[in-house]
Amino acid sequence: MAEKKIPKSVQDELTGLRAEIEQHNYSYYVLDNPTVADAEYDRLFDRMLAIEKEYPQLVTPDSPSQRVGAAPSEKFEPAPHRIQMLSLQKVTKAEEFADFDRRVKDGIGKSSDDNIEYAFEPKLDGLAVELVYENGLLTIGSTRGDGTVGENITVNLKTVRSLPLRLSDKSAKIYPLLEVRGEVIMRKSEFARLNQTQEEMGLPPFANPRNSAAGSLRQLDSRITASRPLYFYAYGISEQNLPGLETHTQVMDFLRAERFIVNKHIAVAKGIKDVEKQFNKLDSIRADLDYDIDGAVIKVNSFADQVRLGQVSRAPRWAIAWKFAAETAETILEDVLFSVGRTGTVTPVASLKPVRVGGVTVKSASLHNEDELKEKDVRIGDTVIIRRAGDVIPEVVAVVLEKRKGHPEPLEYPNNCPSCGQPIHRPEGEAAHRCFNPACPAQVVEKIFHFAGKGGMDIEGLGGKLAFQLAKKGLVVSLADIYFLTKDDLLPLDLMAEKRAQNLIDAIEQSKDRPLPAIINALGIPGVGETAAVLLAERYGSIDKLALAGVDEMNDIGGIGPIVAQSIAGFFGPEENCLMIDRMKKGGVKFIPFKSERREVAAIAGKTFVITGTLSKPRDHFKKLIENAGGKVSSTVSKKTDYLLAGESAGSKLDKATKLGVAILDEDKFNMMID
Ligand code: IVH
Repeated sequence: MAEKKIPKSVQDELTGLRAEIEQHNYSYYVLDNPTVADAEYDRLFDRMLAIEKEYPQLVTPDSPSQRVGAAPSEKFEPAPHRIQMLSLQKVTKAEEFADFDRRVKDGIGKSSDDNIEYAFEPKLDGLAVELVYENGLLTIGSTRGDGTVGENITVNLKTVRSLPLRLSDKSAKIYPLLEVRGEVIMRKSEFARLNQTQEEMGLPPFANPRNSAAGSLRQLDSRITASRPLYFYAYGISEQNLPGLETHTQVMDFLRAERFIVNKHIAVAKGIKDVEKQFNKLDSIRADLDYDIDGAVIKVNSFADQVRLGQVSRAPRWAIAWKFAAETAETILEDVLFSVGRTGTVTPVASLKPVRVGGVTVKSASLHNEDELKEKDVRIGDTVIIRRAGDVIPEVVAVVLEKRKGHPEPLEYPNNCPSCGQPIHRPEGEAAHRCFNPACPAQVVEKIFHFAGKGGMDIEGLGGKLAFQLAKKGLVVSLADIYFLTKDDLLPLDLMAEKRAQNLIDAIEQSKDRPLPAIINALGIPGVGETAAVLLAERYGSIDKLALAGVDEMNDIGGIGPIVAQSIAGFFGPEENCLMIDRMKKGGVKFIPFKSERREVAAIAGKTFVITGTLSKPRDHFKKLIENAGGKVSSTVSKKTDYLLAGESAGSKLDKATKLGVAILDEDKFNMMID
């Protein structure tokens, strides 16, 4: 069908309508100051839709019509972040913040009585997202995911009215690529309203605004997202070297001018006393805010300093989250259940009368172990105080004895595993009771779940519910069984159709190529997480060598302690685990030998370096080079320092090194050494 010719008057009308609609959106959603009656807004919107319907070639990706959502998609595509989205280290006390401040000063060569300029801002409790603007146009919106790859939720994010679909022309020219980061939240008042509607419709209510925001944003049907009251609060950009933007607060001002919502409680704080004052102020207004916050984020304001400070693993050295103290509440203990974890530990879990604490509804809490159970002496029907700090599992703190009614029986630990019925024991010197049956279904479920998780074999589609079915039906008893599953095994399971079964088989197939550190992590050896797995892969290079490693030898690896070394040896000791590895090989897992990036350099191995001043790349870059070559990096100059790597405008550390006679290297000399 030929496209209809577009009269100029129509094009002009459409341009006008769009500008007017977006202006009303901005007033309503960003400025909180409506400038139009609903009926008038609807009239403008309907007229725009009518034109776009008549001339579909006029629909643009930044038209307000894109904000109403689209037909459901099947799944979200992966969206790699060009620059990693970091997480934050946390503190909860003023002293800990002071330690952070000291590390900052050390890192940028400031003296201890200097006052660092920080940007102080509320830590919003929502969902982190990234918005990519290319030549001014919003092209990709994604979740944080694991920081490296998120999910492409562009269609959903476009429905968030407070977020600009396009930057100003001027900014588009200066910043042809701009990645804006921030938090999507639901306001408390709107959350309450939404839950009321849910209830009226006989649907289950959401636990808290955060869950509700996350759930709304991850709808495959973006029309549902569009119906939910979501807001995007910008808190940064991905880069620290864009022209004209030299501090975090400048970026915030820029984003505000570009019509993003920027939190109005963002402030500049000079030095630790000022930060502490702001923190207390924020705590005092917390309850009055219409959105949940769980603390403050404090960032070194200068980008040059941020770059100097760099990052450690996944968190920047230039920012920190200062979380509010835990919150407590009183409720009734209705029951105590015993749950079995991945390694067979049997933990008492309190079933509680639901109560709101720290912004979420809590229905269960951990009682940790037998000693705690005895010490707290909780009994069924007791009134108890529970505490929740941040995202950690809530715990029972104490019983309110005055409120105890009658004479409830003291609680006893069971003699048998609640999952498999085998006797449970509390090993000498340990606090936990354990079920030692390796085929115990509850343990197998947790093991499968961990094995298939993101930092492990990353088998998409193999979540908790499926793990439960696989274990219950006896399809997976040992982890290696996963690699012998067939479509015929899967099809009889609940909610399993042809397509889903095939996807799972494909995902299992793909997981056979995972690198050695991921496999080591996936095995679920007690005490071995992602970091230890990398160290072990680097040291041994293959699973067979690791399986034969001695306790003392592993204990010598920096970062692996004696308990973990023992645990690894203990894991590979019993024949069944070695057989399991063999069966995984037979099932096709490749166990690709791991080649470390480490290459010892004689001049550097065993030497201690301190890095100071401005170098051509972030400090982390040099730190990695030194560590890979076998050297160590320390933050303070002392008699033990062998070399000071000094960049431009090195300060007190250079003076101290000169005084102590430490050898000083500039970047060129260092490069020669490492080559
Ligand atoms: S800055 C490197 N600023 O906190 C900087 N994050 O652990 C990292 N968050 O999930 C982010 N409010 O979404 C920053 N004002 C704020 C924030 C904030 C909330 C969240 C963020 C991330 C987590 C960081």
